[in-house]
Amino acid sequence: MLQQQTIETIKATVPVLAEHGTAITKTFYKNLFDAHPQLLNIFNQTNQRKGRQQGALANTVYAAAVHIENLEAILPAVLKIAHKHRSLGILPEHYPIVGEFLLAAIKEVLGDAATPAILEAWGQAYGVIADIFISVEEDLYVQAEANDGWRFFKEFVITNKQVQSDVATTFTLQRADGGEVPQATAGQYISLRTAIPGEEFLFNRQYTVTKSTANAYEITVKREDAADAHGTMSNYLHNAPIGTTVDVSVPAGDFVLTNEDAPILFISGGIGVTPLYAMLQTIENRSVSFLQYARNAQVAAFTQQISAHVDTLNGTYEIVYSDESGHIEASQIAPLLTAHTHVYVCGPTPFMEATLQHLRSLHVDPSHIHFEFFGPAIAFA
Ligand code: HEM
Repeated sequence: MLQQQTIETIKATVPVLAEHGTAITKTFYKNLFDAHPQLLNIFNQTNQRKGRQQGALANTVYAAAVHIENLEAILPAVLKIAHKHRSLGILPEHYPIVGEFLLAAIKEVLGDAATPAILEAWGQAYGVIADIFISVEEDLYVQAEANDGWRFFKEFVITNKQVQSDVATTFTLQRADGGEVPQATAGQYISLRTAIPGEEFLFNRQYTVTKSTANAYEITVKREDAADAHGTMSNYLHNAPIGTTVDVSVPAGDFVLTNEDAPILFISGGIGVTPLYAMLQTIENRSVSFLQYARNAQVAAFTQQISAHVDTLNGTYEIVYSDESGHIEASQIAPLLTAHTHVYVCGPTPFMEATLQHLRSLHVDPSHIHFEFFGPAIAFA
């Protein structure tokens, strides 16, 4: 347990650290990867190259520190991150390394303002927060091993490819040793890890499981612009012949359907359709509406399957092409809502931000809104 004085110091200095967030984060990652380049086999190098999401780790430590007296409050957010960490094989021994470089970056950026008392307080707070992550992640590793699963990665083979649209292809992945695979709950993702010719470090990326059977996972991957580093893994997969092997960890993620029988509205943008399509396939008897946004008919994935399944439920399916109709509007959502509707949203960040804003303006109960987070999962309180 932290001393009251330590807690006071933490609370007083959170704003200072947040203010210097970008400088601390840059220093942190640079020094971390200079000293431990092998960690680039785990971290998403596209995020690193683009500076995207770099702040997620440090910002989350600060945000967690704000709640240091009541860490229960951040457990749901910790769980979401822990799922991602578990799927990437993050280990307890990684935490002291990150802690050391985070503290050193705070010291380097703040200079004399970072007194020994302040650094000591942050060292202790980081230790408390890291212990929570380590313990939640250990529970997830144990769960991953249950039911014929495995702790880290296993070799899989691409056994089939099926084109879904001009940009999306579904890949079937089976274990190289022919064994069974633990089922994914609809909405969950798997991490793929592979060496890519010409790249120094391994690549890791997460893809929604669009179908899970006794001995295979299907993922549906959007082909990205080749000039964009973001697309390195995606292009590799699209060009990979049947028989190519990749490493896969067991399904992870808590963006899944809740148990109530309340009506559901799915709202998808682009390739964000994948988890919502997977959830829809599991629904047999529930009131469902599906609002799908895509740039145009050539790139829209799963339209026929969604339409057919929604029909069996006597639900409403609408597809909006943004090339023709522009961005999502509250007026497109409103007719599909009831007071009890639970809304599931997934899509690119600007689409999500616009949709969440519309849902708020339509007074949808926040506890009825479910969405996959693409940024830091803990906001500053
Ligand atoms: C992702 C927080 C420790 C490696 C993330 C994300 C957050 C976060 C908020 C983004 C989650 C998402 O994309 O949904 C933290 C906090 C930590 C911590 C608060 C310490 C208390 C670590 C450690 C490692 C690590 C020790 C391994 C050395 C990663 C990786 C990702 C990630 C590889 C995926 C994103 C990427 O590749 O850029 N973490 N993390 N984290 N974390 Fe951590």
